[in-house]
Amino acid sequence: MSASDKETRGTAPAAPGRLIDALSEALSRRETRSARRRLTILPQETVDFSSNDFLSLATSPAYRTRFLGHLNSVPEGFPFASGGSRLLDGNSAYAEDLERFVADFHRAPTALLFNSGFDANVGVLSSIPQPGDLLLYDELIHASVHEGMRLSRAGKRVMFAHSSPQGLRGALEAQIKEDPKVHQGAKNVFVVIESIYSMDGDVAPIKEFIEVVDELLPQQNGYFIVDEAHATGVFGPRGAGVVQELGVQDRIFIRVHTFGKALASHGAMVLCGPETRDYLINYARSLIYTTALGFPFLASIRTAYELLSAGETQPLQGQLQRLIRHLHGRLATLRTSPSVLFEVDHFPTSPIFSLRTSQPRQLASACQQDGYIVRAIMPPTIPEGKERVRVCLHAGNTEQEIDGLIQSIQSWLDLSGKQMTKL
Ligand SMILES: Cc1ncc(COP(=O)(O)O)c(C=O)c1O
Repeated sequence: MSASDKETRGTAPAAPGRLIDALSEALSRRETRSARRRLTILPQETVDFSSNDFLSLATSPAYRTRFLGHLNSVPEGFPFASGGSRLLDGNSAYAEDLERFVADFHRAPTALLFNSGFDANVGVLSSIPQPGDLLLYDELIHASVHEGMRLSRAGKRVMFAHSSPQGLRGALEAQIKEDPKVHQGAKNVFVVIESIYSMDGDVAPIKEFIEVVDELLPQQNGYFIVDEAHATGVFGPRGAGVVQELGVQDRIFIRVHTFGKALASHGAMVLCGPETRDYLINYARSLIYTTALGFPFLASIRTAYELLSAGETQPLQGQLQRLIRHLHGRLATLRTSPSVLFEVDHFPTSPIFSLRTSQPRQLASACQQDGYIVRAIMPPTIPEGKERVRVCLHAGNTEQEIDGLIQSIQSWLDLSGKQMTKL
């Protein structure tokens, strides 16, 4: 061993040893709580009741043909990679045209592309609220919003009860009482919600929230930020989202639409006014300090929006709603035993179903063994005590597949009921 070897081995391993021990201990604690996450690869020939590919666009021939057409339309030598940050070499006429196309589709003044919904939420929440401002957020808001809020300079973050206009009212009234500047309009108040919640699949009462804010903040210093990740493509006119379904787009300060779910792509756009867009270009670090999406991703977003705006995905939206009604009806026919906790949480038009049980891993594993991919959702992704199996429907699922899944759940319920009675 050389002297320099001795030096590096003498100083370096001690810290990594302790570090690795700490990491392993954290993992073991998760293991003990049955909360350890693992990467998995799905076997072939399984039925997808799990992914967010709600319209089944990822495997749609219409999508594929149009997407490949866009890829083939560019001349030899056209760069597929963006080559840098949007602010340096990563911008293009294609990206700007795509933003205008998406903004028009969503009836928004402007749109700004981010590399993911995560980046969009982090960029918006970390940069836009000003020092001293107030952030009010739904208790089930996505992790990316939490991440953005952590980085934010806003004075205060206050949670309100999930999808509860009364909860928002209570939280806002308390802040108004505490700080007169809120009511006087001297501080901005941001209300951050999702239009469809990723885990529970329920639709937010956006109009009722607007009424609360209009009443309590007459100086018009209330600003809504609505994450439409799970609504994009699935809800609203031609899949434009819940905000447009309600016709309240002019009351929403920022909408975030993501493309990695129903749109078979990747990335996200922030819909906002021109000044806000310009501000984000200057201050959103998750936009500035990252390589912009390359042409293949832009082309796939373009493909999805061309299909949406031509109305080609409407039959898929319709088919998805038929399947939702079918699964909703079939779940109601399940025979349960009093000894096994099993409840279905489902918002009528939503493709996301929650099967609440104390043994979500066992139920998910029984369905997976029968070839139906569903996922157990455990804390910390959801609050303690809210464990569930999440079932997602897609336009490409069939009634037979749904009936098969129901059979699988029934068999598990019967078996668990028998096992519990024996105990
Ligand atoms: C509500 C919500 N917002 C944002 C995101 C992040 O979007 P992306 O996957 O594009 O990063 C997700 C994804 O899980 C989500 O469910």
